[in-house]
Amino acid sequence: MANKLKTAIEYTKNILTTGAISETSPKTEEEISSMVGKDSQVVVELGMGHGNITKAILARLPKTGKLYAFEVNPKFCTVVKETIQDLRLHVINDSAENIAQHVSEEVDNIVSSLPLTIISKEVQHNILSAGKQQLKSTGTYSQILYNKNKSKKFAEYYSSIDIKRIVAFPLQFVYHCQNTDKGSH
Ligand SMILES: C[S@@+](CC[C@H](N)C(=O)[O-])C[C@H]1O[C@@H](n2cnc3c(N)ncnc32)[C@H](O)[C@@H]1O
Repeated sequence: MANKLKTAIEYTKNILTTGAISETSPKTEEEISSMVGKDSQVVVELGMGHGNITKAILARLPKTGKLYAFEVNPKFCTVVKETIQDLRLHVINDSAENIAQHVSEEVDNIVSSLPLTIISKEVQHNILSAGKQQLKSTGTYSQILYNKNKSKKFAEYYSSIDIKRIVAFPLQFVYHCQNTDKGSH
């Protein structure tokens, strides 16, 4: 509980980049990491924060898998490096826009809790198109949002979008998008 409180204080202090005052709920952690499975070898997490979803992904990732976790806040990176010791985890202190500079492999799953609604349209586009370029043709992109009417945002990049409603406070929606159309974005 003490750790949850420390995290809430840090997220609130950095509200302009976190877009949140606390960690996402355990049900959301479970849902957003649910696309990671026995065949996942390379997973990318965007917006790692203090690592709650990171742990959920690692719990599902095969022993031979790799997780690249992007986070712009260097202090959050330090916290995760101190609290999660796992050789499969590669913490990257850089923006999610720069996936291609750090990840050379094709990716099975992207798991994002980035605060997309407070990120400029241009940066959103850079992140979504960089993610799509990096995914395998069968790859998945999962995103948390607080609004269930944002399919259009992802329809530009993905042809299949499945929205799961998470009963938590506040109400959250996990968008699971499938990269079935490798277009020219
Ligand atoms: C809503 S918090 C989510 C934290 C945690 N994963 C969770 O689910 O509780 C969003 C995180 O994204 C990070 N972030 C914001 N913009 C980013 C960007 N362009 N690239 C990488 N991380 C970013 C913030 O610093 C923050 O830690």
